[in-house]
Amino acid sequence: MIWSKVVTSVEPRKTRHPIIIQGGMGVGISDWRLAQAVCRCGQLGVVSGTAIDAILVRRLQAGDPGDHMRRGLAQFPFQRMAARILERYYIPGGKAPRRPYAPMPLHVKDDPRELIELCVAANFVEVTLARENHTHPVGINFLEKIQVPHVPSLYGAMLAGVSYVLMGAGIPSRIPGAMDRLARHEPATYPLYVAGAEEGDDTTVRFDPREFMEGDLPPLARPAFLPIVASHVLAATLLKKSNGSVEGFIVEGPTAGGHNAPPRGKLQLNPAGEPVYGKRDIVDLEKMRALGVPFWLAGGYGDAGMLREALSSGAYGIQVGTAFAFCDESGLQADYKQALRDKAANGTARVFTDPLASPTSFPLKVALLEGTLSEQAVYEARTRVCDLGYLREAYRTPDGQVGFRCAGEPVSVYVSKGGDPEDVAGRKCICNALMATMGYPQVRGNGLEPAIITTGDALEGITQFMPPGGTAYTAADVVARLLGQY
Ligand SMILES: Cc1cc2nc3c(=O)[nH]c(=O)nc-3n(C[C@H](O)[C@H](O)[C@H](O)COP(=O)(O)O)c2cc1C
Repeated sequence: MIWSKVVTSVEPRKTRHPIIIQGGMGVGISDWRLAQAVCRCGQLGVVSGTAIDAILVRRLQAGDPGDHMRRGLAQFPFQRMAARILERYYIPGGKAPRRPYAPMPLHVKDDPRELIELCVAANFVEVTLARENHTHPVGINFLEKIQVPHVPSLYGAMLAGVSYVLMGAGIPSRIPGAMDRLARHEPATYPLYVAGAEEGDDTTVRFDPREFMEGDLPPLARPAFLPIVASHVLAATLLKKSNGSVEGFIVEGPTAGGHNAPPRGKLQLNPAGEPVYGKRDIVDLEKMRALGVPFWLAGGYGDAGMLREALSSGAYGIQVGTAFAFCDESGLQADYKQALRDKAANGTARVFTDPLASPTSFPLKVALLEGTLSEQAVYEARTRVCDLGYLREAYRTPDGQVGFRCAGEPVSVYVSKGGDPEDVAGRKCICNALMATMGYPQVRGNGLEPAIITTGDALEGITQFMPPGGTAYTAADVVARLLGQY
């Protein structure tokens, strides 16, 4: 009875939003191809905007197989900017396999123009390609913690007509207002979290579209904003305190792939060394309903029965990651995808919630796979180097400037920047590892950067999408099965 009552009550809204959201998966796992495939099924495909500037430059240096980046750049409204990017990074035929990718400047509080241009263009290209060949809306996902690139990235995605912005891993209360201003091509700002900042310090990132535009443009559509939360309290705070409208929420539990919100209270580990979640971590859906905005449930909802359960609890629908991460169209490098599909099929897939791996200090769910950073020996064999730097934290330098440090960088460097030596144990270079996971590992001496594969606890459950006797499946198979269409 509850089921029919609630379904009826959300029925009118279903014409406005999709029921299934394919969750954003960085780095490059939910790429334009996957998002487009999901959109073509009439659900919401979401590209990942995380480190997409670095991804664009590596794709161009790899020779832009399929000409996709250049096709996207050809539609970019700022063609002189596009030409600069191609001139600097495109290598016809691709770089030699043993040649490292050219370094990019690391993000700093006041980014060099080159990096800002890359952010605008790369986000534009990813959304543009995801929007090709259908008329459904496309979303983009960012991690709040990677703050410096936010505003130019949003602008690039909005220039391409993105319809939804989804953001977790932080408290993104300043995003809505920034989007309102960017829609009018007005200057927008983002406040950086800077450890040790003092009153009067300048910790604001500024971006003025007019410094980059190459001609007048009409106002842009302002995307719907869906923060990703792990508590109804945070949802209520975001509704009340954000500097612009919030259109709904993704409510994500600790079985979800990627980074998880840490458990409430003092961190306790189970015998395997994973964080223990308790009753306080369960989101009160009654309170979510009372907020009066749509919400989607995420974390173990990639199943037709779970979709029904979500709808009956008053959710608008579900956000699904793991099931899509292993489908044919995802950006996960083919060998890793197949190895983990095989493990799922033969019942040997294992996922470890690593409380230390991520320099963000958020737990990160990691699939156990030979030859990747899930193995201690692989981790120990890697020499620490920080040359992508997305997960560095901003801190106040002794002379009052904004510096950046990462618990995964060389220990002496981190400590010299005031980092706590207690913070470094077990930290992994997620930035380099995730670039390797999507097939763009940096070359180091005679070797390659090792990968790390994040997945939800639902990894074993992907077998439900596989055909009898096979392990391959598509995004359309996932959508059809979730909707109970076969
Ligand atoms: C490979 C992978 C990468 C992910 N990366 C991100 C990310 O960059 N940002 C984010 O908000 N969520 C990320 N997630 C979480 C998903 O968007 C989604 O909420 C989650 O996977 C849902 O739970 P499920 O895996 O049980 O379906 C990731 C999940 C996976 C499996």
